[in-house]
Amino acid sequence: MTVCGFRLLKVKTPIVMTATASTPKDNLKTAFAGESQAHMRYLIFAKRAEEEGFPNVARLFRAISYAEQVHVTNHYDALGVIRSSPDNLEVAVDGETYEVDENVSRV
Ligand SMILES: [Fe+2]
Repeated sequence: MTVCGFRLLKVKTPIVMTATASTPKDNLKTAFAGESQAHMRYLIFAKRAEEEGFPNVARLFRAISYAEQVHVTNHYDALGVIRSSPDNLEVAVDGETYEVDENVSRV
């Protein structure tokens, strides 16, 4: 099958399910991670498609990315972890600080 001149290939799903995700909350967290990654992956694919001169493919990836954003937002909402803006700012600062201190130093 081809779409916009591209032959579609069967690939493994990039969403990783862990064996330890056994509670509904764990499953939501895993789904949140997978949907978040898919959202960003499709934005990156859209950018590449645009650079390669395939604007319709880019639009397709952005549309799919938006759908993933809706999914991830619903998962996050269901987790019940959205707080007030001051609290969310604190969570953001903690998260970015963690990324700099722990993740970036390992790259
Ligand atoms: Fe999704």
